[in-house]
Amino acid sequence: MGKASTVSSLLCCPCRCLFCGVLSCLFSVLTCVFFSAGLVALVLYLLFRPHIIRATAVSADLSAFTLTPQTWILRYNLSLAVQLHNPNKRIALHYLDVAAHAYYEGQRLADAGLPDLFQDTGETSPLNPEFAGDAPLVGGVAAAGFRREAAEGATFSVDVKISAHMKLRLWVITVPGPKTQIDCPVRIQRRNATDDGGARPPPEFHPTECRVWF
Ligand SMILES: *[C@@H]1O[C@H](CO)[C@@H](O)[C@H](O)[C@H]1NC(C)=O
Ligand SMILES: *[C@@H]1O[C@H](CO)[C@@H](O)[C@H](O)[C@H]1NC(C)=O
Repeated sequence: MGKASTVSSLLCCPCRCLFCGVLSCLFSVLTCVFFSAGLVALVLYLLFRPHIIRATAVSADLSAFTLTPQTWILRYNLSLAVQLHNPNKRIALHYLDVAAHAYYEGQRLADAGLPDLFQDTGETSPLNPEFAGDAPLVGGVAAAGFRREAAEGATFSVDVKISAHMKLRLWVITVPGPKTQIDCPVRIQRRNATDDGGARPPPEFHPTECRVWF
């Protein structure tokens, strides 16, 4: 019995060597490590049963969305209300560096920072990104898309994407979580500025389920 086999049998100790070679021992240690890691992951999964968060765009207001002819400057004033639901029974969530981005015709219009958010188990929290300003709309295809949507009842397809870094809290332990992306493709009708007197109700908005991924 050499020194190497003593070391390897020491290493093998928790997992028990099936054969007494160094290589087969190494193999069984690795198998043992992978198996234990898998088992721990499975136990954690069954214990916490993580569920993906749900996000729904529940209301929106598009008070301005106009394209200046010739210069193709898009002026916008958009606010969106998103309900974020944490369906987990044991995992509380911290959202950090929350940022929202609005896209029209695939072009980024604006960014909006949002406050950090703590979400307890089973809680639903509102996110209210607001975008106001102007941005150039590049390309004739995008401008044509705008004119088409303006003609079809002034209902515009805007994409609002929200990103955040997550931390998961299990009881008293906080672990870093994945980066979350929320994608809300919404269709919003522009509010008519000429009848501000309240003669007509604000345009109807159909709640939209957002896509969430990590
Ligand atoms: C955007 O619209 C909201 C609501 O109509 C208004 O209160 C706000 O002043 C507008 N912002 C800009 C920059 O026009
Ligand atoms: C607002 O409504 C009036 C009358 O209903 C219409 O003539 C006008 O084109 C509308 N304006 C916008 C910006 O949609």
